[in-house]
Amino acid sequence: MKKLIKKILLLFIKYVICRFERRKTTNLDYSLWGLEVNKRGRLVIGGCNCVGLAEKYGTPIHVVDRDLLKKNYNEFYESFKSNNINFGIYYSYKTNPIPAILKVLHESGAGAEVISPYELWLAFKLGVSPDLIIYNGPNKSDESLKVAIKNRIKLININSFNEIEKIKKIAESLGIRPKVGVRICTSIGWGSQFGFKIKSGEAFNAFEKLGKMRCLEIEAIHIHLGTDIKSTSMYEKAMGEIFGFVNEIKDKLGVYIKYLDLGGGFGVSTVKSFSKTESKLHHSFNKPYLPPNIEDTPSMRVFAKKIVSTVCKECERYKLKLPVLLFEPGRVITSNVQMLLAKVCDLKKENSELKIAIIDAGINIASPVSWEYHEIFVANKMNSNCSEFYKIAGPICTPIDILYRSKKLPSLEVGDIIAIMDSGAYCISFSNNFSFTRPAVVMVSEGKHWVVREKESFKDMIHLDGF
Ligand SMILES: Cc1ncc(COP(=O)(O)O)c(C=O)c1O
Repeated sequence: MKKLIKKILLLFIKYVICRFERRKTTNLDYSLWGLEVNKRGRLVIGGCNCVGLAEKYGTPIHVVDRDLLKKNYNEFYESFKSNNINFGIYYSYKTNPIPAILKVLHESGAGAEVISPYELWLAFKLGVSPDLIIYNGPNKSDESLKVAIKNRIKLININSFNEIEKIKKIAESLGIRPKVGVRICTSIGWGSQFGFKIKSGEAFNAFEKLGKMRCLEIEAIHIHLGTDIKSTSMYEKAMGEIFGFVNEIKDKLGVYIKYLDLGGGFGVSTVKSFSKTESKLHHSFNKPYLPPNIEDTPSMRVFAKKIVSTVCKECERYKLKLPVLLFEPGRVITSNVQMLLAKVCDLKKENSELKIAIIDAGINIASPVSWEYHEIFVANKMNSNCSEFYKIAGPICTPIDILYRSKKLPSLEVGDIIAIMDSGAYCISFSNNFSFTRPAVVMVSEGKHWVVREKESFKDMIHLDGF
């Protein structure tokens, strides 16, 4: 009996959601990405018609707007510059490691924040000056640390007690005194998988240990609170704890900090991580995800003003010299500059309410879509009303390859071109070649377009294999 009541209740909720909640569904406007729509109702990025790009280069394909990339970087730079503080910007390679994108950013003045031997190698390959490289991450190989130390990079941020020993040993063997920072954890933000907790006394112990070592030069405190942060208060709260700690190590250990590396994490207005409830309702009842409220994300100027005023306030409170602020932005620079174009390859019916659209991009190349909101447009039907609900599935032969369980779109036909927005953060880094080759990347600017990464070939898929 209980089971029956539960079933009826669930069916009722499903009915309510399908009938009423779905009506509320809206999509974000394309103008938020600075996109245009041409006379034929086709989506245009950087002066290039998305349908034309899909036809010329094939799908799936990432398209990067070079001018928006430069604009985002300059906006970040100006936001801090206008607050009269010493600061440095080190783009987080893991967010989007396409060399052509990194090159544009380095030409604009950005340094590199790397977290692996490969990314360190790539930064050197791209000609980044050693004093513009910060090396982070929980697993730095001996070999890569040797390279970092020999080349005297800006900063190596230490993650654990074992790593202190490892770096000490390498530094002594090379006879070079590397500049190091210590990654710490405050009571808010990402946990102690990364760095040393202030609260448990670990962070203090790390500084105490380092303070006794002549072979390492302690220069920085490093923190990275998380990603997709949508409030300035998180930085504010964390800095309250950080400066209390900076003061403690100054008083008790005589350690002075030159740099405060605040990591990245700044959210973007068109993307939003799903809450647990949202995810549950989406998965259980196909309730469409609602787009983020654009006003919920502070602009970079607002973030910068709050961060700088908090740093100044805290330094005044503890009578400290202002540190140089270092930032490692990722998604706020590249998220909205890139879109992923995919093609509708097949259409099926799930039930009277829902159709299934199978497209040639799935969780293999667009996995962030399964944990955060990414808008999608039908690039060849921008003037059509969104009137139908679709389950959007990828090409991989597994039931988990679903990008959306219910998304309101114009009526779809096979061959339509879907634009998945904000593919510029974490789509490339999380992508894999599960049964399909990875897509090409095309850059656009003022109506011109060129390939910056070729589509992976079948030969590329096996070129490391012996058989
Ligand atoms: C240490 C560090 N710095 C910077 C970033 C970039 O973060 P975001 O893309 O949220 O700005 C990350 C991302 O995880 C990170 O781990």
